[in-house]
Amino acid sequence: MAKVRSTAFFCKECGYESAKWMGQCPVCREWNTFVEAPVQKAGGAGNRGVSGRGLAGAGRFLTDASPKKLSEIPSSGGERVSTGMAELDRVLGGGLVSGSLALVGGDPGIGKSTLLLQVCRNLSEAGHQVLYISGEESLSQIKLRADRLGEFSGELTFLCETSLDMVSDTIVQEKPEVVVIDSIQTMYREDVGSAPGSVGQVRESTATLLQLAKRNNISIFIVGHVTKEGTVAGPRMLEHMVDTVLYFEGEKNVPYRILRSVKNRFGSTNEIGVFEMQEDGLREVANPSEYMLSGKPEGASGSVTACSMEGTRPMLLEIQALVCRTNFGMPRRTAAGTDYNRVNLLLAVLEKRAGFRLSDCDVYVNIAGGIRVNEPSLDLGIVMALASSHRDIPVDDKMMVFGEVGLSGEVRAVSMAEKRVQEAAKLGFTACVLPKVCLPGLRQEVPGLKLIGVSSVQEAVDLIGR
Ligand code: TYD
Ligand code: MG
Repeated sequence: MAKVRSTAFFCKECGYESAKWMGQCPVCREWNTFVEAPVQKAGGAGNRGVSGRGLAGAGRFLTDASPKKLSEIPSSGGERVSTGMAELDRVLGGGLVSGSLALVGGDPGIGKSTLLLQVCRNLSEAGHQVLYISGEESLSQIKLRADRLGEFSGELTFLCETSLDMVSDTIVQEKPEVVVIDSIQTMYREDVGSAPGSVGQVRESTATLLQLAKRNNISIFIVGHVTKEGTVAGPRMLEHMVDTVLYFEGEKNVPYRILRSVKNRFGSTNEIGVFEMQEDGLREVANPSEYMLSGKPEGASGSVTACSMEGTRPMLLEIQALVCRTNFGMPRRTAAGTDYNRVNLLLAVLEKRAGFRLSDCDVYVNIAGGIRVNEPSLDLGIVMALASSHRDIPVDDKMMVFGEVGLSGEVRAVSMAEKRVQEAAKLGFTACVLPKVCLPGLRQEVPGLKLIGVSSVQEAVDLIGR
């Protein structure tokens, strides 16, 4: 009799499945990430009948035996429920979609549980039935956290449980509208042999939750810890199964957090939400530009305000550069918060096209506030910050700079110039340096804001000290 394969090897990072063990994953190129986990045949795994593969499992409740024309499919109306947090609503694409499964990933301790508890509070206060299931904290620990967050006036129910069978029974019985599972790595299904947090358990548990969400039209949030290494499976291997993937990012010692969408079946993926972690929970930062510029020094050389686009939203930020004579043979170059190679490239452009002598200088570039941005529109800001620091002449504090820099020293057009200019005007800037080619595209004059179009790096650095 042919041998039926009961286990397979899965990459802990991306979930790639292979019949045999491999040292390096051919998809995500990580080393030593393969672990053995059971595979279950579709429909064969007991009465819960969840397939071993997320996609196959996801497909079955959607199946309708005959193919249908688009016009025959009833539209679901696309109702959205507001989570009570405008920042989160925007990242979700306009609110929570019923019957959707969203994964909220992030490093441990970044604030995922706090965010979701606040969302649960808002939803329950708006009259929705919400169930918060924690496999990590006891009821009294949740209570402690809730006390920090302040008043809870809605009907919000909690359950401490790690057995997914119990969890799904409760969900089917209670029929809540919104469920939070904190975290997927603590959940286990008895019919899957491996330990909680293992690849097999995490995949199977997610497949069960996916079915629950779609069958009962419940919105489910799953928390997934990002693990550097170790024994727990990371959330990346679940990305293909869920509808929405959000990552909560930030530095431990910086209070602000960014919620980024990397996959969204119901909206755009380039929106971000900005939050600030405070003593009493997360606060939304409705105007990130103001927040990012709050500590900008006045009249300091090497400090330039630039503008990056986060989705459809412009965000002003401060670029800092420090150029000083090197004491060693080999000059040091560092870039914090932006691409190191890009900074090297811009240094070369400055040297070759604007006559700066930088080969005997140490160069440090930093995007203030601990944020990471990699957008070509910051190029001109970086160049001007470098030039300003090298000459030790400050750039006008009320000047905002954006534009891409090419290898010939030309300043190239960037998208959404209008929005960036408007943001600068809104925050009281009086001058804006931008690519000359963007000028004709601007629809109207902005009162109080002088637009300075430049076509080359040389023109831009000539503005310093004027
Ligand atoms: P938490 O939501 O438990 O993180 P995660 O679920 O992602 O592991 O956040 C824990 C951190 O947040 C912890 O370091 C304490 C801090 N915190 C505050 O600063 N203020 C608060 O009001 C709360 C509830 C937590
Ligand atoms: Mg937590």
